Amino acid sequence: MNMEATSPPVSGHGPDPSIQQVTVVGCGTMGNGIAQVFATCGYQVELVDLSAPALEKAINTIARNLDRVVAKGSLDQESRDAALARIHTGTSLAAAAQTADLVVEAATENRQIKLELFRQLDQLCPPPCILATNTSSISITDIAGATGRPSKVIGMHFMNPVPVMKLVEIIKGYNTDPGVTATIVEVSRRLGKIPVEANDYPGFVANRILMPMINEAVHTLFEGVAGVAEIDTVMKLGMAHPMGPLQLADFIGLDVCLAILRVLHEGFGQPKYAPCPLLVKMVSSGNLGVKTGKGFYAYQAGSKDLVVAPEFSGSV
Ligand code: 3HC
Repeated sequence: MNMEATSPPVSGHGPDPSIQQVTVVGCGTMGNGIAQVFATCGYQVELVDLSAPALEKAINTIARNLDRVVAKGSLDQESRDAALARIHTGTSLAAAAQTADLVVEAATENRQIKLELFRQLDQLCPPPCILATNTSSISITDIAGATGRPSKVIGMHFMNPVPVMKLVEIIKGYNTDPGVTATIVEVSRRLGKIPVEANDYPGFVANRILMPMINEAVHTLFEGVAGVAEIDTVMKLGMAHPMGPLQLADFIGLDVCLAILRVLHEGFGQPKYAPCPLLVKMVSSGNLGVKTGKGFYAYQAGSKDLVVAPEFSGSV
């Protein structure tokens, strides 16, 4: 696999002149974070989702996150208001797509949904428009095959929380045009991010390495080697990770972790990627982590305390 790390971001250069309007599809955690960073950089953003209440929630989240940045003194009030005013929301994909120069798709991580979305986007967007996907593991080449413009389809994989994390993993599909890759590298730098290029194989780089680590942490718990807090403490204090792997799994969503592991397992056909039975069982039970209030830890709205979930609180 050929990977190329690119140089640090050019800050304060504003939007790429070749891209005026960015359409972000999907307004969940990743979609609203992506909309926020593009709008803060000066792009006009169309944020589109099937659900009007979800869009309202997303705008409130973006407003709150921008307020945090203002409170820290890294953005003034006027720039915050201007960024928010650059984000327009709507439920019509056709309306949001018709004048797009770049689409960043951050919809549900489901192959059939993404293939159908890209088929529609290909019909709706102007011919020069670049179609990027924030998929965490679905093949870019596969998604590109649903369109009549595979050379303009690329992976633009942001990390959660998008406004904070510096990396954008840029994944080149089998037919992605090098000029399109160069544009997306430049756009990412202008967002203040560090772009890293990778080729299109299961899990790309980030999740190919991260998910086996998380899976191994779940096995370590499953086999009774150590408890939840102990496993996370080893990795936080011993390896200087900001979160332990079990807390990170809760943060990402256990269903998302399981889905990515299944892509790795199926894509490489190697038993080392098989999801731990405990992870499978937790997902079946609906304990998906932060978003459902319980995973390896139990979460209380408004509290930042890290409390191990009752089923894991006994000693090993
Ligand atoms: N929006 C804007 N700012 C945010 C934010 C958000 N959603 N969440 C946190 N922040 C800011 C805070 O304002 C704070 O800023 P400051 O230090 O300048 O005051 C800073 O981030 C730290 O936040 P907190 O003090 O609230 O909390 P922590 O110090 O515990 O940091 C964290 C939180 C940044 C999430 C940190 O724990 C971390 O880096 N965790 C690991 C995250 C990670 O690994 N992400 C990648 C996940 S994998 C992925 O996304 C790929 C996918 O395909 C699975």
